[in-house]
Amino acid sequence: MIHYKELGLVNSRELFQKAMKGSYAIPAFNFNNMEQLQAIIAACVETKSPVILQVSKGARQYANQTLLQYMAKGAVEFAKEMGHPIPIVLHLDHGDSFELAKSCIETGFSSVMIDGSHHSFDDNAKLTKQVVEYAHQYDVTVEGELGVLAGIEDEVSAERSHYTKPEEVEEFVKRTGVDSLAISIGTSHGAFKFKVKPGETPPPLRFDILEEVERRIPGFPIVLHGASSVPQNIVDEINKYGGKMLNTAGVSEDQLRRAASSAVCKVNIDSDGRLAMTAAIRKVFSTKPDEFDPRKYLGPARDSLKELYKHKIINVLGSANQA
Ligand code: G3H
Ligand code: 13P
Ligand code: ZN
Repeated sequence: MIHYKELGLVNSRELFQKAMKGSYAIPAFNFNNMEQLQAIIAACVETKSPVILQVSKGARQYANQTLLQYMAKGAVEFAKEMGHPIPIVLHLDHGDSFELAKSCIETGFSSVMIDGSHHSFDDNAKLTKQVVEYAHQYDVTVEGELGVLAGIEDEVSAERSHYTKPEEVEEFVKRTGVDSLAISIGTSHGAFKFKVKPGETPPPLRFDILEEVERRIPGFPIVLHGASSVPQNIVDEINKYGGKMLNTAGVSEDQLRRAASSAVCKVNIDSDGRLAMTAAIRKVFSTKPDEFDPRKYLGPARDSLKELYKHKIINVLGSANQA
């Protein structure tokens, strides 16, 4: 067992309390390789933002859990070396079993999500409580989920979303002892969130559900998954350089800014980073067909990712200068 404090990491408890008081949200960025991690840390240090580094089950398998542990420790040291240490959380995204959550806690994660949202209320509450009881022994924080998002979550995909039922949240939080709650108010996973024709705007988020949840569990940290905005300029760049991504649409940044100033303390962004990297790499491949040094295409991809993250931190989530 290696405890996250030995790696220089923190759990999310205090970060969420501060975010709630300060009306901003902590960025939760997914990563599975070195360039993504470099971009996240550089963006957060330069903007002085706390950060949640998220690893899905698939990403953990891809990157190897031992390497991830040292990468997280390396991220802490890298931030110090850049001249401004920031609070860093290492978080399991969409954990689907007690065994996976336990294994992450044993290998240095400071926070875990147990996503029982596809189970019945009772089974979800039972599984979440089991993870909470184990995690809290090590001061690891736990995120649960009520309601189902449309789109693909690791290997699970849902055609349609099922909004969170506000009348269930008090009992879920009380029964499980969970530290934060992901809810479904109309966001969706992936780069193809809404089926829109050119010129159409996606449906607005259900702020009425969010407000009712806040009324029932005041001061409790809420999490938004599926919060990529699928920027049109990045999609256009991908298509310009040989890609084919048609009729994509994401969550508007205005709505995310509004959510971040409420009880939403954590906002998950993965797809926008994937798109930014893809656009940058496609551009190099297309404009410099003789290039074959990976640093020459992964470097621009990293630069582009860093700019995207800084934009999210400064203009969308409001977490700049909070670390
Ligand atoms: O919500 C899911 C995340 O975007 C992770 O995706 O399972 O493909 O790594 P992944
Ligand atoms: P996006 O696919 O919208 O980036 O959502 C990521 C996410 O929710 C990770 O858990
Ligand atoms: Zn998610």
